[in-house]
Amino acid sequence: MSESRASRPRRFLVCEPRHFAVQYTINPWMNPDRPVDVDLARDQWQELIRAYRAHGHTVDSLEPVPGLPDMVFSANAACVVEGRVFGSLFHAPQRRPESVHYDTWFKAAGYDVYRPEAVSEGEGDLVWTGRYILAGTGFRTTREAHREAQEFLGHPVIGLTLVDPYFYHLDTALFVLDDANVCYYPEAFSPGSREVLRRLFPDAVLATREDALAWGLNSVSDGRHVFIAPQAEALCERLAGHGYVPVPVDLSEFHKAGGGIKCCTQEIR
Ligand code: ARG
Repeated sequence: MSESRASRPRRFLVCEPRHFAVQYTINPWMNPDRPVDVDLARDQWQELIRAYRAHGHTVDSLEPVPGLPDMVFSANAACVVEGRVFGSLFHAPQRRPESVHYDTWFKAAGYDVYRPEAVSEGEGDLVWTGRYILAGTGFRTTREAHREAQEFLGHPVIGLTLVDPYFYHLDTALFVLDDANVCYYPEAFSPGSREVLRRLFPDAVLATREDALAWGLNSVSDGRHVFIAPQAEALCERLAGHGYVPVPVDLSEFHKAGGGIKCCTQEIR
């Protein structure tokens, strides 16, 4: 396709993996017996930040807190739309203390933070498409939280049920390419949710289980560049065929915790 895609500059919030580790198991990817190479993780993470900045994006970062090894996954801390910060309440008790540190950062940056009463894991499950919010449920974020998000953010929230434990957050099975389109792995969703996605996005770029297992769907797109796991080779080619420009960034150490590029990236809109 010769169509030229336009990128829009973004503002991202990230958290350095200084205390990153796999110390407990709250998703099928995590095995505390398989050690994380902390130096490699830091290098990979810095490469992601460099790639964002090199493509014109602004990156803010908050101080990591010892004892919170998953805090690096900033996407889970909130969903921010039009300056409204819908905070988080984590499913796992091990992650619950993260929210207050993120809330403090947002407040210092001048935002009010809404703290959900029901379990809600930020952009892990609440994905802004430019028109509405696609909201995952099934493993983490609850239906109750979808209702709270709609009430607080004032945009339609469309619930989608996740069915495969390897793709326990919506952002492991779907990402937004631009204001008009998304890319997703259909089998990660219940039959009804699959149908909803088919109706909403008839021209979506579809991914396979291999693409999803290679973390290809935990990607960040600025409308033109898609920051994506190089392991998802076939998906990179398919996206290039649709006129997007894949920017490979390898976060293999974070895959051990069940996270990737998008998990490490909170977008402030
Ligand atoms: N270990 C973390 C958890 O299971 C990984 C979070 C990944 N984040 C994401 N947005 N999918 O909660």
